[in-house]
Amino acid sequence: MNFIFLGPPGAGKGTHAKLLSQKHGIPQISTGDMLRENIKRATDLGKQAQVYIDQGELVPDDLVIQMVEERLAQPDCQKGYILDGFPRTVTQAEALSKFARIDKVIDLVADTSVILGNLSGRRVCGNCGATYHTRRLNGATTCAACGGKLIHRVDDQPETILHRLEVYHKKTEPLIEYYKKADLIMDVVVESTIDHDFMLIEKALGL
Ligand code: AP5
Repeated sequence: MNFIFLGPPGAGKGTHAKLLSQKHGIPQISTGDMLRENIKRATDLGKQAQVYIDQGELVPDDLVIQMVEERLAQPDCQKGYILDGFPRTVTQAEALSKFARIDKVIDLVADTSVILGNLSGRRVCGNCGATYHTRRLNGATTCAACGGKLIHRVDDQPETILHRLEVYHKKTEPLIEYYKKADLIMDVVVESTIDHDFMLIEKALGL
């Protein structure tokens, strides 16, 4: 099965896509993680992407589309995948339809107050990329998985969060209508604990 996780920044796309991937053995394809990995390795793509990411802008469509098309051609994606953070524009969705068949789209619906709370307290491991929240860290400053230092993402600063939300409303929200027309979308309201929200997502996906 091929799934898309849509939703505003901080709604929990990465958190739930990772849980689903671990539990059901379906690869999580996160364009944000792939771009950050390119930045870490200082590739040409990473150098081009960093300027956009740090400012809360979307990376140009052609760069992201090519990256995803190449990734989905890998052997581990042949039995299914979870797209986390792609597509993010109608142009990306149209391109995707030419090289992939999508079975279901989960739209994570979250209140702005939930989004702001999730992003302002998010901490990520600078080494392995694991995600945490200050609500559950009890003051820890290193990663429980690898011991790496936990950092506050540059694009999780308050002004950049607000800009990312504006970009989401303008460029990504139209995808809700796009996938509604294709009769693929299921809304899941995320306003509870991770476990509870995850249960709702599995139910929506029929898993
Ligand atoms: P990306 O990394 O994809 O960022 P995003 O979409 O803005 O999403 P986030 O990672 O901020 O949030 P999330 O929904 O995954 O939330 P999370 O699970 O971490 O992209 C970064 C940038 O890359 C973009 O701005 C853009 O520049 C570029 N980019 C990426 N894809 C692109 C594309 N297709 N086209 C162009 N540019 C692209 O959760 C957040 C926090 O909340 C965590 O701390 C988590 O623990 C906590 N949390 C989540 N759910 C709950 C819950 N139910 N209860 C308690 N805590 C919770």
